[in-house]
Amino acid sequence: MKEALLKKFGEVYGDAQGVKVFFAPGRVNLIGEHTDYNGGHVFPCALTIGTYGVARVRDDRKLRFYSMNFDHLGVIESDLDDLTPRKEAGWTNYPKGVMWAFEERGMKIPKGIDILLNGNIPNGSGLSSSASIEVLMGYILRDFFGFEVSNQDLALIGQYSENNFNGVNCGIMDQFAIAMGKKECAIFLDTADLAYTYAPVKLDGAKIVIACSNKKRGLGDSKYNERRSECETALAELQKVVDIRGLGDLTKEQFEAHKDAIKDPVRVRRARHAVCENQRTIKAVEALKANDIAQFGQMMNASHVSLRDDYEVTGIELDTLVEEAWKVDGVIGSRMTGAGFGGCTVSLVKDEAIDGFIKQVGDAYLAKIGYSADFYVVEVGDGPVTL
Ligand code: GLA
Repeated sequence: MKEALLKKFGEVYGDAQGVKVFFAPGRVNLIGEHTDYNGGHVFPCALTIGTYGVARVRDDRKLRFYSMNFDHLGVIESDLDDLTPRKEAGWTNYPKGVMWAFEERGMKIPKGIDILLNGNIPNGSGLSSSASIEVLMGYILRDFFGFEVSNQDLALIGQYSENNFNGVNCGIMDQFAIAMGKKECAIFLDTADLAYTYAPVKLDGAKIVIACSNKKRGLGDSKYNERRSECETALAELQKVVDIRGLGDLTKEQFEAHKDAIKDPVRVRRARHAVCENQRTIKAVEALKANDIAQFGQMMNASHVSLRDDYEVTGIELDTLVEEAWKVDGVIGSRMTGAGFGGCTVSLVKDEAIDGFIKQVGDAYLAKIGYSADFYVVEVGDGPVTL
């Protein structure tokens, strides 16, 4: 991989002198969806697939970007004196946003960079290809210019750039999972205060299988922001009757006792999802720690139902993948993962059932939806590294 990247860098930029090679993972969330902007818990893990970056420092203030995932766009040029979001700049708004966010925090970037990226995460699939680029960029800036930031800071800077440069009000989950990733472990993160613990993903005789619906998110980002503001309104209504900082502070019983404060039935459902999903995530992690994989799988299934019926972020593509998965013997649990509205599902599947799972779910999906899904058997990997 490294050799091929260096060769490509040389082809694109004339030579590969002075470069370093870096990697940041993608992530999959096992459970705890749409809880991270509600002060709840999440349980994601970093993957061994992600984004590779070859980069070097320049002598001037120019920025040159090239992505092997968008060869047709060629080299996209910019400048450290022009760190503003531009529609025509496409994917480069992610790394530029991170540079901008460093500068916002008083870390001035002294010199320009030539960079070439190659990602093996399916784009726009819900496995956080954009957060992977953000954390990678932050990691490279720290490496090149010696900024004193921790990996957790890299996550917060990535999120800040996504919120304020790229206009998506995402929570902290994706960037945190990527920057803090640990081989064979998922991260049990309380988004209310960023307290976290690692929990080994011990799936004796089973693997994590991701099914990509190949439905692009489309209007997903605006729907995402809409869900977020529905939750914020519901929280403000609840705060009139109960002293909480986020929906994640409520148990299911407390929610039931106070839910009449929410003046709209749709918002009641949105808030119910946030509250119950948080409680489910806590229980699911307890089950995993107790080696009760079957119970963990049940929680994943219940998570999907809640995202489908109360939060309404699934759609026919994700529902088909999950409902077909539930029919397969050897499936421990299956749910949509990430923001929803397209993207991927995550399933825990017994080793001996994986081939049959891919065939059965794949065939049913094609027959119903009219195009194919892609399947990936993934492994849980570490955070960003220099290669
Ligand atoms: C996206 C966001 C995350 C999180 C998930 C939903 O991936 O980037 O912050 O909100 O959706 O759980």
